[in-house]
Amino acid sequence: MAEVKSLAYAIVDATDLDAWYDYGVNVVGLQVGERTDRRIRFRMDNKLYRLEINRADQDRITHIGWEVKGPAELEQLAEAVRGLGYDVRRPSAEEITDRCVVDLYRFTDPDGTVECELHYALHDSLDRFASPLGHSFVTGDGGAGHVFQLVQDVEAYEKLYFDVLGFRLSDWIEMKGLKLTFTHCNPRHHTFAFGGGVPGLPTAIGHLMVEVEDIDHVGRAHDKVLNGAARMISGLGRHTNDKMISFYMDSPSHFGVEFGTGGLRIDDASWLPTWYTETQYWGHSPYLTLSKDDPKNYG
Ligand SMILES: [Fe+2]
Repeated sequence: MAEVKSLAYAIVDATDLDAWYDYGVNVVGLQVGERTDRRIRFRMDNKLYRLEINRADQDRITHIGWEVKGPAELEQLAEAVRGLGYDVRRPSAEEITDRCVVDLYRFTDPDGTVECELHYALHDSLDRFASPLGHSFVTGDGGAGHVFQLVQDVEAYEKLYFDVLGFRLSDWIEMKGLKLTFTHCNPRHHTFAFGGGVPGLPTAIGHLMVEVEDIDHVGRAHDKVLNGAARMISGLGRHTNDKMISFYMDSPSHFGVEFGTGGLRIDDASWLPTWYTETQYWGHSPYLTLSKDDPKNYG
């Protein structure tokens, strides 16, 4: 059966491209693959880009790229999503070419938060990847990372991601009346996580996680953020479920970026879901207090 294989890319609307350039290069260690007046494309591996930042009058993640194996799988999944009642569209040939993929279908997710882009064959760059900070990002069969989304209609997300897109349950974390569901589509412990029912908080993509190989690079980025390079959301800590050591910082578009190392890889054949009552063994102390008056949502 056709299924999503990985998170390939995220597309962001941003009011401050210069801030993104500085943040992407000097804090996250991403390589600039392309920079024009209207956008920056950041690389984290051999792909042409993994994060695209577009100049806009708003700040948010607008599109998420879900990679599938090939043309047959793309058609099957597009049809299955249509079968759930979603309006699945193929963008213009120019738009597809501009995304640097071979083919693509797009639909709006259940809450209307983000455009999901089913596609295949995100192009490789001819130039070897080189992080300006010497980072090695953990991508490959685990994709670019993971996203966490606060949602309204939990059931609709379960139906879409489990029943149609082919994600499997990793585990749950239940705390303070909130149930978080972690799902995987490759060996990365989770690629898409979601939770619902947070009163007062807007629905949005709370954070995007990127993983590096070296804990010293996480520590150095943590130091930079402590020294004011970005707003700290929560300090260094270790997650219960995916065992990742990470911290959370604000991005120039005011979604969180989790920056970590040592995330668990799982094998579907032997994996059994479990549940936790805490997200961390230690750390992840909050620096920013969320309130319903705060327009930002970090998840
Ligand atoms: Fe995360």
